[in-house]
Amino acid sequence: MSSYREDFPIFKGSDVIYFDNAATSQRPRQVIEAMRSFNDSCNANPLRGLYDWSVRTTDAYEAARHAVAHFIGAERDCEIVFTRNTTESINLVAYSWGLANLHAGDEIVLTVSEHHSNILPWQMCARRTGARLVYMECEKDGTLPASEYESKITDRTKLVAVAEVSNVLGAVNPIREIADVAHRKGAVVLVDGAQSTPHMPVDVKALGADFYALSGHKMLGPMGIGALYGRIALLEEMQPFLTGGEMIETVTRESATFAPVPEKFEAGTVNAMGAVGLSAAIDYLNGVGFDTIMRKERDLTGLLLDRMRKMPEVTVYGSEDPAKHCGIVTFNIEGCHPHDVASVLDSEHICIRAGHHCAQPLMKYLGVSSTARASLYFYNTEEEVERFADALTKVRGWLGYGA
Ligand code: ALA
Repeated sequence: MSSYREDFPIFKGSDVIYFDNAATSQRPRQVIEAMRSFNDSCNANPLRGLYDWSVRTTDAYEAARHAVAHFIGAERDCEIVFTRNTTESINLVAYSWGLANLHAGDEIVLTVSEHHSNILPWQMCARRTGARLVYMECEKDGTLPASEYESKITDRTKLVAVAEVSNVLGAVNPIREIADVAHRKGAVVLVDGAQSTPHMPVDVKALGADFYALSGHKMLGPMGIGALYGRIALLEEMQPFLTGGEMIETVTRESATFAPVPEKFEAGTVNAMGAVGLSAAIDYLNGVGFDTIMRKERDLTGLLLDRMRKMPEVTVYGSEDPAKHCGIVTFNIEGCHPHDVASVLDSEHICIRAGHHCAQPLMKYLGVSSTARASLYFYNTEEEVERFADALTKVRGWLGYGA
């Protein structure tokens, strides 16, 4: 039994096996307590008030910005813009940078394994600007061959938008190598970090990311808070995505000038309590340590893959190597619709995700319409993996297909 598990109130006295961590992770009491303490001691409108509570709210919010900057290796706090989530971060770049910088004939290079959040904003940009989408193909296990980024990133490429970790296969993309090629061609690199920040140390400088997006709720934090890292020179030249309160310098009847970054991108009252929760989540992750997190995930994934290999009716997608899954095990059971698999497992108090995982181009590439997906995190246990695997052996029988 993981000692960290005790920190997660939702597991207390519960027999639920939560294997949908890639969708949303659970929150430790340290995160809840940080938010409660903020709520009970100083909650007020940040960035505006001149009284103590408001000043303390602003301080807590800015301390959270510093924590995020430090967590992902940004040089300056002002390179962190708080958003609702990865989706909003990528849309901010698409509307603010993409529409201003992409033109007819330009190319936007993606991978076939992107989440829809890192496809649809670029489809919008392509439609509006005449730029073209170019897809890099991965191997069936999710590996992106060097030949793909070396051949598809060209002088026409203006943007390379790629996930660090696939939300379906768990494969880790070689961001540094991709960024090196992209930068040689003068392109900008956006990294979708939604599935990497919960599982591995991130250093945006070492990766060569010009933009980097993350979500709080996948890394032990609350929903409704995420962040966009942007290289300062890029953020400074971009126009705001949303306009309104607290992002201006001056406003006349006809026009406005904008505040410096990051305020320029944070119109309206911001989610200060969410930022406090995200900061506490970062503290918690650092306390556990990514060595421990990665080792636990690898061990649990190894155990699960070993059990699944003994089930001839089960097809597992992704690498043979448990270290290359980031805890994500996507699979199908012969003859069973993934939705039925998820429903029947739910009746055993097991939570997994089933469907296209917001990655329909990858589903098409894999030759399936949908899959089931178990996604593990460091607080899961061997007992849970064994119980889950035992349940999998019975799914066909439960669904009336014979064992
Ligand atoms: N992007 C989340 C997932 O992969 C919701 O499940």
